[in-house]
Amino acid sequence: MGEYYVTGGCRLSGELAVHGGKNAVLPILAACMLNAGESLLTDCPNISDTRDTIEILQTLGCKVTREGSTITVNSEPADTYTIAEELARKMRSSIVFLGSLLARFGSASVSYPGGCVLGLRPIDQHIKGLRELGARIIDEHGFLTCTASQLIGKNITLDYPSVGATQNIMLAAVLAKGTTTITNAAMEPEIAELAKFLNAMGADVTGAGEPTITIHGVKELRNAQHRVMPDRIVAGTYLVAAAITKGDITLTNVFGSDIRPVTAKLAEAGCEITESTNGLRLVAPPKLRAIRLKTQPHPGFPTDMQQQFTAMLALADGTSIIEETVFEARNSHIPELCRMRANITQVNDGRTSVIQGVPRLASASVSSHDLRGGAALILAGLAAEGTTTISPSHHITRGYESIEADLRALGADIVFNK
Ligand code: EPZ
Repeated sequence: MGEYYVTGGCRLSGELAVHGGKNAVLPILAACMLNAGESLLTDCPNISDTRDTIEILQTLGCKVTREGSTITVNSEPADTYTIAEELARKMRSSIVFLGSLLARFGSASVSYPGGCVLGLRPIDQHIKGLRELGARIIDEHGFLTCTASQLIGKNITLDYPSVGATQNIMLAAVLAKGTTTITNAAMEPEIAELAKFLNAMGADVTGAGEPTITIHGVKELRNAQHRVMPDRIVAGTYLVAAAITKGDITLTNVFGSDIRPVTAKLAEAGCEITESTNGLRLVAPPKLRAIRLKTQPHPGFPTDMQQQFTAMLALADGTSIIEETVFEARNSHIPELCRMRANITQVNDGRTSVIQGVPRLASASVSSHDLRGGAALILAGLAAEGTTTISPSHHITRGYESIEADLRALGADIVFNK
């Protein structure tokens, strides 16, 4: 099962480099199907989601090698367009292979994806976008079977700025006939990152990171190299680790602009944030201030940092309010934090947490139900009296290369029993 043992009381300090981004590398790996050639990706995170995506590429017939954080994908030998259900269900991002397989082969067969249970997580916007590009999609028995003799560019308006749906449409449109526009597109940094890689392959994508993206279809794509952007959520998680332990840390390999919604809220809670060319420093106050926050699509406060902030604000001075507007059930961490004597009540169908700051948290044995919720419990353990046990570990290792090594490097007392 895997357990983390965290003994509270250590004030974090020192410097740490942030690893490459999970939510950046996963769609880029799917994009490697598009050029029927070789792509070289550096600074890739060594996490289970990356390993599982490499396995998907290999089952599709690609040759994939990994040396440290460099992954080379040769998709020339790829000869199938079906992804096995047990692989597809390991993560949410398998769904974006629909777009890249349709563009490459004119066919794709992928089961409904898995990933963290944060609510229903429908895929209607993915299906809507691909159908508008001309794909015929049969959705039955939890499987999506798609065919398209020729994908044709279209003006598509999303009902919601879905990250995955935006990426799926981009992947399908780059080799389509004609021009595609995506209106109400997601603007997360990982969208511009995917566009950067696609354009390095010879695609013609403009406007990524803005509400409307324009894609002029091209005939074929070439080999490309790319350095994966840092993981802004891992960076945010470690900043909260410093905040909750009254620490003083500097993170390198982090783009301050990507996590400005997070650092703005950390500053509001009393942290001193200094951005420099080589990184970002956080000095925590002796006591955090209570704040209000609401998760929103980028450039709003990221939902992927909501659970870590809930843990941090459990110890703030006063009453904080956190409203989760992106997912309807991103609250598995709340009962676990309450076992550690946090004082949190949920209103508005569990989408809003009212957090009364307490002077201290108590260690406990707590359960990790999803990736960021698990990380939040580790953060709570850093500030709790005694040793907190967090298990199972598999959700956490999906998105953090080695959270225990990173936090230990900053002075935390944490042991990981695989
Ligand atoms: C991506 O998930 C990220 N995952 C998530 O990170 C992140 O929380 C999310 O974007 C929002 O930023 C990856 O990039 C692999 P969405 P995705 O489609 O693409 C609804 C983490 O912790 N929706 O933007 O699944 C959906 O139900 C993970 O690293 C539809 O209604 O997110 C949700 O309420 C967790 N119909 C909202 O939109 C659709 O067709 C946001 O989903 C698609 C989505």
